[in-house]
Amino acid sequence: MYPSDRKLGEGGSVARAILEDKDICVRVATRDVTKPAAVALQDLGAEVVKCDLNSKEDVNGILKGAYGAFLVTTYWDDFNQEKEIKQGKTVADASKQLGLEHVVYSGLENVKKLTKGKLEVPHFDGKGEVEEYFWSIGVPMTSVRIAPYFENFLNLWKPVKASDGDYYNLMLPMKDIPMDGICIADIGPAVASIFRSPEEFLGKAVGLSAEALTIQQYADILSKTLGKVVKDSKVSLLRQMKGLKHREGEWSQSQQMERQQDAVERTGNLESWP
Ligand SMILES: NC(=O)c1ccc[n+]([C@@H]2O[C@H](COP(=O)([O-])OP(=O)(O)OC[C@H]3O[C@@H](n4cnc5c(N)ncnc54)[C@H](OP(=O)(O)O)[C@@H]3O)[C@@H](O)[C@H]2O)c1
Repeated sequence: MYPSDRKLGEGGSVARAILEDKDICVRVATRDVTKPAAVALQDLGAEVVKCDLNSKEDVNGILKGAYGAFLVTTYWDDFNQEKEIKQGKTVADASKQLGLEHVVYSGLENVKKLTKGKLEVPHFDGKGEVEEYFWSIGVPMTSVRIAPYFENFLNLWKPVKASDGDYYNLMLPMKDIPMDGICIADIGPAVASIFRSPEEFLGKAVGLSAEALTIQQYADILSKTLGKVVKDSKVSLLRQMKGLKHREGEWSQSQQMERQQDAVERTGNLESWP
């Protein structure tokens, strides 16, 4: 994990891993070339270029002359599935036009399609649509479907101080179902190895996970590491979603939460939904 002022995203992790091969030139896209994470990559030898994925011109400019590309699209900036799909398709079209030989896309399953519309997971479904688009237009592409980051324990999943004792609760409604996870720093070396073996990975979707643990096992590790008691709160999905909805900040405004809650309510069986 990296300090927050040098936040390591998936793209940064991949750039660092590929930069270890001194024969390969790495071009990094960011909307802000002056941010510490961008400057750190420049110091390691990357060419850092201002690029907005919403601009076809920017995307064409950065991909021109490249052998391949690693692409992360993002839903979370403004909870906009259509925008994420458009960004992905813009990169797919440019990759096709410019003849890129290998794109690795940070995709995810199209849950809506897999469940025949029963469930909608907007930050998954859009990525699934982008995956399909890449392959449908014939771009040589590998999709990496990345497990939740362990770094989520630092923010979204941060253990919550209990009101009735000297301990902390992990508020993850997983019951005893193991949940996959991965550290962002481990994504780069895995993606670099995929770029090194195109014959093995082109046209495939590959899941990336370090391990799958139950919430109790995560709580045990956090307790041991932090020296504080962390417990699995055994929170239900419905209670967790209500809690998030009432929390201050972006979640209370979140169209994503509204849509997920709608999806859960439509399944009719809140407690058994994984
Ligand atoms: N959190 C998880 O556990 C998890 C697991 C698997 C997959 N994912 C997916 O991974 C993606 C990234 O999530 P994250 O938490 O790593 O987000 P993040 O740290 O905020 O990173 C998003 C990156 O996207 C870039 N970006 C956003 N909008 C852009 C635009 N218009 N043009 C160019 N670059 C843009 C940002 O670069 P600049 O700010 O430098 O421009 C930033 O580096 C999301 O789609 C998420 O669904 C997340």
